[in-house]
Amino acid sequence: MKKTKRIGILTSGGDCPGLNAVIRAVFKKATRQYGYEVIGIEDGFEGLILNKHRKLTNKDVAGILTLGGTILGTSNRADVYRYPTQEGNQTVYKNLSKQALRNLSNLKIECLVCIGGDGTLMIANRLAREGASIVGIPKTIDNDVLGTDITFGFDTAVHIATEGLDRLHTTAQSHHRVMILEVMGRRSGWIALYSGLAGGGDVILIPELPYTIDAIAESIKERRKIGKKFTMIVVSEGAKPKGGDVVIRELVKDGAEPVRLGGISFVLGKEIEKQTGIETRNVVMGHLQRGGSPSPFDRILGTQLGSKAVDFIVNQNFGYMVGVHKDSFIKVPLSKAGQGQRLVPVGHPFIEMARSLGIGFGYSFK
Ligand code: F6P
Repeated sequence: MKKTKRIGILTSGGDCPGLNAVIRAVFKKATRQYGYEVIGIEDGFEGLILNKHRKLTNKDVAGILTLGGTILGTSNRADVYRYPTQEGNQTVYKNLSKQALRNLSNLKIECLVCIGGDGTLMIANRLAREGASIVGIPKTIDNDVLGTDITFGFDTAVHIATEGLDRLHTTAQSHHRVMILEVMGRRSGWIALYSGLAGGGDVILIPELPYTIDAIAESIKERRKIGKKFTMIVVSEGAKPKGGDVVIRELVKDGAEPVRLGGISFVLGKEIEKQTGIETRNVVMGHLQRGGSPSPFDRILGTQLGSKAVDFIVNQNFGYMVGVHKDSFIKVPLSKAGQGQRLVPVGHPFIEMARSLGIGFGYSFK
């Protein structure tokens, strides 16, 4: 079997706890077990376009297992097929894929490991179709990549959001208030659902179940009736009212994701106060969920994925990402990630269980 002598690795899209665990595992296994050289491409696909890279050494990966972010840097703007360049005071988007592929071949990189979310994996898939040997590794705190049951970073984000809820609980309780915690997740409600359950949320609002203010107010009133004067609400940034739309914080022209969500908790807070007369406060968790040290679970998952990616390279399973299904690591075509987002199914057992405990979803299940 032909062995790849030199491999490349890049991290692209938003940073995510566990990226460094993956980089470390790829480096260690590839160098120790197979004698490969590992080239770190800097700042995601930007490094491929602009030739920014360095040969990784043992020193680079020492002590990074516990580090958040990515030692390689990342970018969520550097799409090789739509790269923003400045011409005078105008931004012109160029297809620089040929340049990227040329750089890859000049570097004699025989396989590129691309670690990223759906946007990154879609770019990786196009490059693979144009002849590059690529192995993908899915990442995102949102846990919404199609083709894999779980992504690293999610567990850490849930831990941080849960801690946020724990801390808000005391104020909610002491002041008899409604406290709303807004969490990330884009168009999926995984972070809200998991942290809501772990942190004792009374109402959990997720994009998959459009809410009504009446249903939320009903949950708050029901709690009052049984003597609970406070209510904890977890809302996903992508939640929307029935018949309405998401709250957009900003539209970004040259980002891979043009819609930046955020601010739903402000809107909700005002509406809840108006409807119930109960003092309401909101907190946006924001990027705190993505920062800092990965949880032990994410360190292990990242390490497993990195190690599996090297197996994929050795077996020449190019054009695939390493997915997780039940207790196994599986081969998933890179194209799968571009087919949409993995949303929370309405019949998810956690939703049923939560409802049986009296947790509201602001949604009428009738
Ligand atoms: O996809 C990860 C994520 O953190 C989403 O949950 C969030 O909507 C988005 O990235 C924020 O992106 P940025 O860091 O570009 O603001």
